[in-house]
Amino acid sequence: MASDVTTSPAHGPAPSPKAIAGRVDIAPQAFVVPMAQTIVGCMADGRPNFMAVAWLTRVNYQPPMLGVAINRRNFSHGAIAASGQFSVNFPTVDMTAVTDYTGLASGARVDKSGLFEVFHGHLDAAPLIRECPLGIECRVHTAVELPSNTFFIGEIVGAWCAEDCLDGAGAPDPRLLRPILLTMPDNRYWSMGDVVGRAWHDGKALRGKADGSEAG
Ligand SMILES: Cc1cc2nc3c(=O)[nH]c(=O)nc-3n(C[C@H](O)[C@H](O)[C@H](O)COP(=O)(O)O)c2cc1C
Repeated sequence: MASDVTTSPAHGPAPSPKAIAGRVDIAPQAFVVPMAQTIVGCMADGRPNFMAVAWLTRVNYQPPMLGVAINRRNFSHGAIAASGQFSVNFPTVDMTAVTDYTGLASGARVDKSGLFEVFHGHLDAAPLIRECPLGIECRVHTAVELPSNTFFIGEIVGAWCAEDCLDGAGAPDPRLLRPILLTMPDNRYWSMGDVVGRAWHDGKALRGKADGSEAG
C-alpha cells in the first residue's frame, strides 16, 4: 500500500431544520440514482472471499484508479488491508441471488469461496469470478479512513472482459455485460435502461448559444 490518509471524524451537529418550498430534505436517503452492483473479491485465511459492494467509483484518470468504500466490520476489510489487493467483479442480471447472498453472509462465519469459479490475472490476492463478464484487479494505492468505512483506492492493474461482451471496436458493450444496478433506500436491483444521449457530444449543440463559439 503506497500511503494512508487519515481524516478527522467530522460528525458535526445536525443542521437545523430548514424549509424550502416544494422540497423535502431526505438526507441521507439520497442514493436513488442507480449504482453499479459489484462483488468485491479478496483472499482471506488462504481462500477467496466475496462481498457485495455498491459503493464504488472511478477516482483517477492516469494511472487508472477506482475506490471502494468498505465497512470495517466486514471480514473482507481486514483481508484487503493486509494484502493490499482486491478485485471488482460485475455480475449479470441473472446473478442477483448469488450477488445478494455475498452481501448477507460473512466470510467470518461461512466459506463463500465455492460460490464461483475463480481465476487470477496479474495479482495473487485479487480473485476474479469466471461467471462475471467483467472483472477488475486492483492494488491498493491509498486507504482513506472514514468514520465507519475505509475508502480503498485501488490502482487498476488488469481488467478482464469476456470476449463475447466486446463490441466490434474491442470495447466492452454495456448491453452485453447486462450489469445489475442498485438503488437505495428502496434496496432494489435493476437492469440498465435506454440510451438517451451521447457523452462529450450532445452538449456541442449548445456551444454557439452558451459561449459564443461555433456549434458542432
Ligand atoms: C446490495 C448490497 C450492497 C452492499 N454494498 C456494500 C458496500 O458498498 N460496502 C460495504 O462495506 N458493504 C456493503 N454491503 C454489505 C456487505 O456485502 C456484507 O456485510 C457482507 O456480508 C460482507 O461480507 P464479508 O464479511 O465476508 O466481507 C452490501 C450488501 C448488499 C446486500
